[in-house]
Amino acid sequence: MNARPNTQVPDAVDRILLDEETIQRRVDELAAQISADYRDVDQVTLIGVLKGAFIFLADLSRRLTVPHHVDFIALSSYDRGAVSTGAVRLIMDTRAPVADQHILIVEDIVDTGYTLDYLVRTFRARRPASLRTCVLLSKPERRRMEVPIDYLGFEIPDVWVVGYGLDYADMYRTLPYIAALKREVYGG
Ligand code: PRP
Repeated sequence: MNARPNTQVPDAVDRILLDEETIQRRVDELAAQISADYRDVDQVTLIGVLKGAFIFLADLSRRLTVPHHVDFIALSSYDRGAVSTGAVRLIMDTRAPVADQHILIVEDIVDTGYTLDYLVRTFRARRPASLRTCVLLSKPERRRMEVPIDYLGFEIPDVWVVGYGLDYADMYRTLPYIAALKREVYGG
């Protein structure tokens, strides 16, 4: 049994944008900043957006030094791949209510911004005690909606990225680094 999977870079990968060490160092920094900002709060609720955020959320939550719960939400866009109209559908809601809780939304990537905009509007309407967002990757060139990002890992160019939770057709999520796919793979 291979104790260290994913050491071979898949053929579909064009180049590694963020290696494992760079990601882990940035997650350390984000966790330290979040822990400092929430030091006077009894309890934070991290809400991971499935599926892409599951690895980032797992690493981030284990580094936080403030008490926190973890919850999840799953969304789907109606028209992913086509020219986006920004319609987002809720597939699975959080298990616990968010009213009066300190909510931190954890996303892997903000592209057009439609998903995060939907989430922020949805959670604001539920009257949390506070609401912030933590996003690992942002593609500013692709933005169609202005969205509030309180904690950001990295800005990246407009290329299809996989690894560290991000996929192409549900593949490559468990790569320990973030890589750009070859354009011929996704037709970009
Ligand atoms: C990705 C990502 C965000 C969204 C960002 O999810 O995880 O939720 O797209 O795009 P936007 O800013 O243009 O709205 P995806 O639909 O790929 O689902 P997945 O996380 O389950 O892979």
